Amino acid sequence: MVITIDGPAGAGKSTAARRLASALGIAFLDTGATYRAVTLRAMRAGDDLSDAGKLAEHARRMDLELIPRSGGLGVILDGRDVSEEIRTETVSRNAHHAAGSPEVRGVLVELQRRIGRDLGNFVTEGRDQGTVVFPDADVKFYLDASPSERARRRSDELTLRGEPASPQTVLQAILARDESDAARSVGPLRPADNAIHMDTTGNSIEDTLAELLQHVRTRTGWEAV
Ligand code: DC
Repeated sequence: MVITIDGPAGAGKSTAARRLASALGIAFLDTGATYRAVTLRAMRAGDDLSDAGKLAEHARRMDLELIPRSGGLGVILDGRDVSEEIRTETVSRNAHHAAGSPEVRGVLVELQRRIGRDLGNFVTEGRDQGTVVFPDADVKFYLDASPSERARRRSDELTLRGEPASPQTVLQAILARDESDAARSVGPLRPADNAIHMDTTGNSIEDTLAELLQHVRTRTGWEAV
């Protein structure tokens, strides 16, 4: 059973994917963590992030473990827990270098497929999961929300983590990321042809979860455990 959830930053994919996986009793894969890990590894090495060859080298060499934990995903990079560090605004801002490199994407797409094979049944979220990485997925979703709502959610998240930023500042960053996500030539952000579109603006996570489960039930017969 493979369920993909793609969409822009702040559309609620992460929480939705985690909650859906937990409701169905299957695994959860956050593919943004792989791009963030490469970015952090290169930043730590002091490398020039616009050097795609260097970034690809980091992608090939990194030892990355994704461990399910209650309330999130543990990310262990080269033996060190970087679960918090990969989520900082600096890493978010710099991740477009790794995301825009065809060479890095090639390495990470293979890594994501390998992780998927090991997981068996899973919900995966990112930008290209239904289009490129798992084109034969059983159910594909494309989640979106208005830019101002996405900025508000992201700003709340940052405030909770002690990195307060106004929704206006976050909105600018989100719009810039949307543009670079949609414009790249490899793995651009776009809905798969057979994706179910959902707009989560104004919805609680409970509403979104109920809607996702309803679609999964209709298409596959799988129910919440
Ligand atoms: O979903 P996120 O914010 O954790 O993603 C981090 C970065 O990685 C962001 O720049 C988009 C990119 N990304 C991607 O290009 N493809 C994916 N499947 C997942 C994330």
